[in-house]
Amino acid sequence: MTETPSDPLDQAWARFDRAAGAAAGTRIVDLFGSEPGRLERLTIEAAGLTLDLSKQSWNADGVAACLDLAEAAGLTSARAALFGGEAVNNTEDRAVLHPALRAPDGAQFKARGEAVSAAVEEGRARMRRLADDIRSGKVLGATGKRFTAILHIGIGGSDLGPRVVWEALKPLDAPIALRFAANVDPAEIAFALDGLDPETTLVIAVSKTFTTQETLANAVAARDWLRAALGEEGARTHFAAVSAAPDKAVAFGVPAERVFAFWDWVGGRFSVWSAVGLSCAIALGWEAYQGFLKGAAAMDAHFMEAPLSANAPVMLALAQVWNRNGLNRSARAVVPYAQRLRLLPAFLQQLEMESNGKRVGRDGRSVKRATAPAVFGDAGTNGQHAFFQHLHQGTDVIPVEFVVVAEASEGPAGMQAKLLANCLAQAEALMVGQSGPGVEAHRAFPGDRPSTLIAMRRLTPETLGALIALYEHKTFVEGVIWGINSFDQWGVELGKTLAARILPELEGGARLAHDPSTAAWVERLAE
Ligand code: F6P
Repeated sequence: MTETPSDPLDQAWARFDRAAGAAAGTRIVDLFGSEPGRLERLTIEAAGLTLDLSKQSWNADGVAACLDLAEAAGLTSARAALFGGEAVNNTEDRAVLHPALRAPDGAQFKARGEAVSAAVEEGRARMRRLADDIRSGKVLGATGKRFTAILHIGIGGSDLGPRVVWEALKPLDAPIALRFAANVDPAEIAFALDGLDPETTLVIAVSKTFTTQETLANAVAARDWLRAALGEEGARTHFAAVSAAPDKAVAFGVPAERVFAFWDWVGGRFSVWSAVGLSCAIALGWEAYQGFLKGAAAMDAHFMEAPLSANAPVMLALAQVWNRNGLNRSARAVVPYAQRLRLLPAFLQQLEMESNGKRVGRDGRSVKRATAPAVFGDAGTNGQHAFFQHLHQGTDVIPVEFVVVAEASEGPAGMQAKLLANCLAQAEALMVGQSGPGVEAHRAFPGDRPSTLIAMRRLTPETLGALIALYEHKTFVEGVIWGINSFDQWGVELGKTLAARILPELEGGARLAHDPSTAAWVERLAE
């Protein structure tokens, strides 16, 4: 007989393991018959979104074990600490307060005891002024022309959020176009600038640290492009910056009145709600941007108030924990059946894998349990013609998250139902499968492959805000259960340091010590 652990968290994990073991023999589809009310119990409404978690492979006891685990891991107090502005990012000794950025005016957030909401409101008012003035034509370019394009320069968290928002909400025939440059590959900035007119383009350099190599290289390239057409002074009036190190942006040459600050308590991948969203606020207009913040605030309220068993971010995280730790599934596919959400998988790759791809816990010791799975995906139906073969008949079971928008916002009539039919069909095929005496082996579908459906009636600024906030809180809940700090990213540092060491070698400098393979490639690629 195995001994019962004395620690409540170990006990909860032991119960979780037993529940996962016991559920292993039951097919998901059979749970609908054996558990009356399953669909209703596992369907959650939150801030304009509907989550259906009934096609996950957990039975009622598994769900209960997951909820126990969340309690035992201290989720309720961790959530209070996050919203209370405590230094939950313990390795950097920082608060983590992105909810303060989308709270309505009059909120009273504090970061490590210091009031921050007034500064947030002041920052929002500055953003709004610039957005309104550019859109109305009050602020013009150096040669008196209206701005008709924005080039947003940034990478990682300073890029992915605004990219997703723009793709999701951009109007057809936009009066102000938004372009992005992230990669240090010179091709990216070349394409981003191609066809733009410097006289009508505003460049916004976005970097929390304002030290990121890729962003500075692209910002220098864009500044040279502006200077060639407008001269040094003209170029300055076509430049803005967003940073938590505003002095560095000023030192770069951005006029102080065009520098928008944010704070160290805003993590890069959680920063789209700060001035990092400035380019979207200008290109989409303030009303849309505010709707985006409002949708996220509604999800914050839901996350704070809903009981854990009906709490969308909590239950979405628990389904992930069930798959990862109960059933050892090391990947998850995210498939938005909405072309406008096609960048969501890329956004989630950073959000989830940079936050929770960790092997050391908050206490500095090795974690005992597996953490974040690999996340990948593409828009449906495109993904159906690429990786769905593997999802249906591969040797690994990969849980799928379908995100679906019920009503189309544009395009010819009669196509949307086809899109929706495909989404439902894929989820059904994954769960039910196809087998039996008459089915040849290579045509058989094993089924019993889990999925979640996240649905919204329309893709609006509000539902988009709620969706992104849902995933942010889901990521946080997982981090609490895995006992890790979801808000640092030390794992990206070594590569940056080594790249800085190799660069002078490629530029003709003295050779340094490397492993034989790297040394050979330095030799081949050096100028
Ligand atoms: O990839 C590491 C990282 O620090 C991300 O966390 C961050 O979003 C990105 O680089 C960009 O950093 P910054 O906004 O400071 O330029």
